[in-house]
Amino acid sequence: ELATLEVAWSIDSTNSELLRRNTSLRGTDVLLAERQTGGRGRRGRTWASPLAAHLYLSVARHFGGGLARLGGLSLVAGIAAAEALQALGHGSVRLKWPNDLVVEAGPGLRKLGGLLVEGGGEHGGPVRAVVGLGLNVRMPEAIAREIDQPWCDLASLGETRPRNAVAAAVLAQLLPALAQFDRDGLEPFLARHAALDALAGRAVVLHQHDGTRNAVAEGLAPDGALRVRLDGGELRVVHSGDVSVRTR
Ligand code: BTN
Repeated sequence: ELATLEVAWSIDSTNSELLRRNTSLRGTDVLLAERQTGGRGRRGRTWASPLAAHLYLSVARHFGGGLARLGGLSLVAGIAAAEALQALGHGSVRLKWPNDLVVEAGPGLRKLGGLLVEGGGEHGGPVRAVVGLGLNVRMPEAIAREIDQPWCDLASLGETRPRNAVAAAVLAQLLPALAQFDRDGLEPFLARHAALDALAGRAVVLHQHDGTRNAVAEGLAPDGALRVRLDGGELRVVHSGDVSVRTR
């Protein structure tokens, strides 16, 4: 059940703010911001968050069953967001494991949004997690010049509805998906992910701590890890690291 829903004018990071707060075991807190002064992406990167341009939102709630069960959480949030955008008519939105919303563009992918899941704490008991979503709605030119990877925004996909309508549509999918994940785990989401998987069957480059390899992505393992077939034939299950699509 929704406990609080707030829109901040300006905040360092909606994820950071919800992490600073302590909330009851029951109920879900939602925080959106018009801008972030210290928006954060994965791996310590910054997330450009200009005023009134995009969606910056975070959802905090508790999950039962301990930290180990949280593995698929960012996948679930991505599935919910991608399905919401498809229902708004953006049928080209896909997911790039583990945390990106993308749109296919020729041989490559353009990033439309990303997820940052944080939190945890106690062992065994319920775990409080903060699920952060940044979604490009209308990229200002000045910001576009600073972005060092192929990007996309909803405006270029033809979206004309107000940001609030997009936010409402995303939250209407996201909140029930998080509740279902808390109840049933990742299993009910695996087929939905497969239908949205931008990597499946694609030639990818795998960047891991022990090196860089070429492979073909083969969908998800039951725990949400990425299965890849290495050049040479070996099947590998990737739990963390980055993959990029090979475009030549
Ligand atoms: C990524 O792709 O690296 C994840 C980006 C996550 C950005 C969102 S915007 C709302 C929330 N607050 C943050 O500081 N980050 C997330």
